[in-house]
Amino acid sequence: MRIAVCLSDTKPEPWVEALQAALPGAQVQMWSPGLAAADHAVVWAPPQQFVDEQPHLKAMFNIGAGVDAIMKLRLPPGLQVVRLDDAGMSVQMAEYVCHALIRHFREFDVYETEARQGRWVFRKPLERADFPVGIMGLGVLGERVARAVRQFEFPVLGWSRTPKAIDGVRTFAGEARLGDFLVATRVLVNLLPLTDATRGILNRTTLSALRPGGYLIHIARGGHLVEEDLIPLIDSGRLAGATLDVFQQEPLPAEHPFWRHPKITVTPHASARTLRRETIAQIADKIGRLERGEPIAGVVDPARGY
Ligand code: NAP
Ligand code: GLV
Repeated sequence: MRIAVCLSDTKPEPWVEALQAALPGAQVQMWSPGLAAADHAVVWAPPQQFVDEQPHLKAMFNIGAGVDAIMKLRLPPGLQVVRLDDAGMSVQMAEYVCHALIRHFREFDVYETEARQGRWVFRKPLERADFPVGIMGLGVLGERVARAVRQFEFPVLGWSRTPKAIDGVRTFAGEARLGDFLVATRVLVNLLPLTDATRGILNRTTLSALRPGGYLIHIARGGHLVEEDLIPLIDSGRLAGATLDVFQQEPLPAEHPFWRHPKITVTPHASARTLRRETIAQIADKIGRLERGEPIAGVVDPARGY
């Protein structure tokens, strides 16, 4: 069995070495143009040339949860694209969202500024009930985040394509319920996949629908947010601010106004990092299952795009 590794923006050598150790019977090779046909691929944002040169793959394993960079390629019919199924990401997303939410709700950003000036000033406690947290996307990551936020006793809402039942979470499903979800939300967390149906979903209209003092925690894909709509909403007081991890252009250009806006916190696409050990264990297990003719979880539905 041959496995081709094609990773953009990631040093491939440690992956090749660790995959080889996890699958000693396989021949694991880093892809370069002209590499012999492989049975499986392990990829991150591969170029079209890779797909065109590897038409006999049984499966293409993505080392991330989001497959938008793969789904925009021309893929051979029947190729199974397999997304990363948690592999240590959901706990990181829960940490990130709870941190951003609590930093905003408890005004720790304001305390940090005051402390730097040597000022001992209390803030008036805010009402938790006035900060309903709405999570867009209740999949592997969104559901874990919803449960984590619930632990801090905030009202939690969730929106997904198909109906979901999660203890303690008020759920909404489908485009027809998006408006009801948004007007009941104050802190909006985006954990949707980027598809034709979700591109640009965070825009002047949807963000203006949030409760007064709305706050955005945006951690899915840059293509979800119409970036030019955000700062006017914050500067006009319609939104209180935002924590942003993903951007239309990454790395975020040095001159981008998000870096310097006082009510925007920027992180460099770091909310949930791919963990190599967990990821390779999951992919090696799935390759073994496929080779034995067993079903696997996490296969992307090309019609849905995620
Ligand atoms: P997932 O398990 O596929 O869950 C996606 C969720 O979004 C599902 O609940 C799905 O609804 C919902 N959804 C999809 N299309 C929708 C639509 N048109 N309307 C309403 N709901 C819709 O994905 P995941 O593992 O949770 O990951 C989510 C995304 O997070 C990834 O696609 C990726 O872009 C992003 N991500 C970012 C980072 C980072 O570091 N910033 C790290 C990992 C992942 P159904 O349940 O009804 O199907
Ligand atoms: C990272 O952004 C991922 O999709 O895993």
